[in-house]
Amino acid sequence: MSLAQGDDFADMWTSLEPVGRAPDGSYHRLAWSEADLACRDWFRSQARQRNMALDEDRNGNLWAWWGEPGPGAVVTGSHLDSVPGGGAFDGPLGVVSGFAAVDRLCRRWTVPPKPLAVVDFADEEGGRFGVACAGSRLMTGQVDPDTLLARTDRSGVTLAEAMRAAGFDPTGCGEDPERISKISAFVELHIEQGRALEGLGAPVGVAAAVWPHGRWRFDFAGQGDHAGTTRLADRRDPLIPVAHLILDARAQAGAAEALATVGRVEVNPGATNAVASRASAWLDARAPSRDAVRNLVESIRAASLEHCSHHDVALATKEESWSDGADFPGALQEHLIASVAAALGAIPKLATGAGHDAAILAARVPAAMLFVRNPTGISHDPAEAASTQDCLSGVDALTAALAALLDDPRRPSEAPSGPQADQSRSMTKVTPR
Ligand code: GLV
Ligand code: MN
Ligand code: MN
Repeated sequence: MSLAQGDDFADMWTSLEPVGRAPDGSYHRLAWSEADLACRDWFRSQARQRNMALDEDRNGNLWAWWGEPGPGAVVTGSHLDSVPGGGAFDGPLGVVSGFAAVDRLCRRWTVPPKPLAVVDFADEEGGRFGVACAGSRLMTGQVDPDTLLARTDRSGVTLAEAMRAAGFDPTGCGEDPERISKISAFVELHIEQGRALEGLGAPVGVAAAVWPHGRWRFDFAGQGDHAGTTRLADRRDPLIPVAHLILDARAQAGAAEALATVGRVEVNPGATNAVASRASAWLDARAPSRDAVRNLVESIRAASLEHCSHHDVALATKEESWSDGADFPGALQEHLIASVAAALGAIPKLATGAGHDAAILAARVPAAMLFVRNPTGISHDPAEAASTQDCLSGVDALTAALAALLDDPRRPSEAPSGPQADQSRSMTKVTPR
């Protein structure tokens, strides 16, 4: 199969940029929504333009293949969905850069030495059904398909229903060992979600580790009542413990050198002149080790129970999403650093508190990540940014990394490790802003 010359980076970016963008510049590409389906169509058209074989796996992830899909495959890519109100780069930068790298590599080989795939992992953000990295988690067997497919969005639509409405049959969802066995390495390029590269003056970095993290739902049930007639002492207001939860999460995370966020609260009935009857809040917690996350959440939960008992409010909590995080293999990190050196010189290593499909895949295949400088350091918000020049440096780095993996007869896990290969996420701090 020969590759047709594809669009260059800027053209691809321009064609994807308007999809799911609101007038204020924020992105709304929730998984399996119309905007996400348009992104998936964009992916298909990029594959077609390059004569890459397109393949939708059993879990809704999209794959574009250069070379016959088979053992030893080198895979790159990221995701096209966004959080509600997200930025342009989180996810799409890795997919667009993957296709751009293919364009550069096909100037070097008419047939790649190993199969190369660009992948768009489905529902990475978990912005609609609450479970992060759904597509990669399903593929690697890290979530029960039935439980995940039954999860609902804010309108009560299940993931299975959303997939069906999009024309995708979810009955085959689940672990895909055959596909996993074909992958020799996965390299995800991503916008940096912090300002470490800006501080270091480097356009590109390599991920050392991803912190373990999870999401918990807190449901508070009190007694709805009249705001003008109910004495303060008689109220069972569920929003009081919600307020404490938000403040406790912040204080306890600070004390534990971890991160905890309440970024979503729903109040029922949500009337100005009524004491609420119920409220739900979602806690996101992250720390360098699993125990640190679990201990933090347990301690926040215990504090919340006390506040609830004080205000005669019932509390039910549920873990909605858990990610182990990953220490990316040192050998593969060094391999990437060495292969990128000719194009960009030495590049730094960074740990991150953000979750990624690469961290999910790392449980099953050698995986690595490249980060591209984000001068604002902001992410999950339209202020997320990267200069075109840095994006192109990212493409250069990714191209060099993929070329080295395609050229290397060894498995990436067999590549020699360098002096810093054992860097652990527990020894590194989350990228500072
Ligand atoms: C995804 O970006 C996450 O870290 O939640
Ligand atoms: Mn994200
Ligand atoms: Mn992402």
